Amino acid sequence: MENLIQLVNNIQRACTALGDHSEGNAMPSLWDALPSIAVVGGQSSGKSSVLESIVGKDFLPRGAGIVTRRPLVLQLHKVDEGKEYAEFMHLPRKRFTDFAAVRQEISDETDRETGRSKAISSVPIHLSIHSPHVVNLTLVDLPGLTKVAIEGQPESIVQDIENMVRSYIEKPNCIILAISPANQDLATSDAIKISREVDPKGERTFGVLTKIDLMDKGTNAIDILEGKQYKLNFPWIGVVNRSQADINKNVDMIAARRREQEYFANSEYRHMAQRMGSEHLGKVLSKHLEAVIKSRIPALQSLISKTITELETELSRLGKPIAVDTGGKLYTIMEICRTFDGIFKEHLDGIRPGGEKI
Ligand code: GDP
Ligand code: NA
Ligand code: MG
Repeated sequence: MENLIQLVNNIQRACTALGDHSEGNAMPSLWDALPSIAVVGGQSSGKSSVLESIVGKDFLPRGAGIVTRRPLVLQLHKVDEGKEYAEFMHLPRKRFTDFAAVRQEISDETDRETGRSKAISSVPIHLSIHSPHVVNLTLVDLPGLTKVAIEGQPESIVQDIENMVRSYIEKPNCIILAISPANQDLATSDAIKISREVDPKGERTFGVLTKIDLMDKGTNAIDILEGKQYKLNFPWIGVVNRSQADINKNVDMIAARRREQEYFANSEYRHMAQRMGSEHLGKVLSKHLEAVIKSRIPALQSLISKTITELETELSRLGKPIAVDTGGKLYTIMEICRTFDGIFKEHLDGIRPGGEKI
């Protein structure tokens, strides 16, 4: 049976193909109902580094200042074997095996929407990565929260970024990956500030502490990682990403992960080493996302039935002849919805005592 996360991935992709942000169709509510994970934090807190180590690949544009200027919806598909490749939704049928070219395309595609300015846009870029080395996961990388506009940016940018981030994380189905750097006081964390606003009880927020290796000598993050400074429903996870010097020296991800594990195993974090690090983070998130999807199956299923009905109405309203393009996309979505419907029923049968039919 197809993995639940992959099914949700497919339907999210179908929604986007049809233009999920446009008004007057059933797609926006469907998209919002599907759980996903959004990465939030201040600029240079280590968001891109965390994403890259979850994926185990170098593929994100990086540098000082505001590099991520459009949301990046990243879908990871675990495949049994074969060569790793990446694919953009705006470039269907083109398979990228060179991840440096992926980075360039993210950057070019950002510029296409925003011009070569430092402006931001809320129109997402969709990227999927197929690899035997990833866990099934959908992650959204968002522009970093910032406190002041820099040269060439409109004054409104601070608020614009905050609003964009909030529009993702305020959805009750959004799982928040809140990134805070350990070398700054947690009380000043942008990630904690905004996630607390939308999730005051910490019920859907995962706290990730980066830059543990950069803390002042004589201090450590044990209190934070034990949830004694800011309590969340899920345990905090500490990571050690590559430093800028590592990146400049092209330290590869595999070596970096190994070094990260050694760091935790041979330090004052020894006693909690097995629940630290990027690899552990990826597994925890994948498991959690799957559990959330399972728990939402009944709600998703009724929404999908409703969507099918609405799509049928829309198709008949369009009448004939309809543009092959629009009609084709609607049919594709309906197909996927029907697949969903079938699989959800299977799952529901599995979880309902007595396996009564719906
Ligand atoms: P973003 O702006 O939040 O996406 O942050 P980046 O991932 O681009 O990281 C900003 C800078 O901090 C880069 O130079 C990274 O190499 C560095 N960095 C991120 N995480 C760590 C970490 O855990 N340890 C060290 N030493 N450097 C890190
Ligand atoms: Na940055
Ligand atoms: Mg970044």
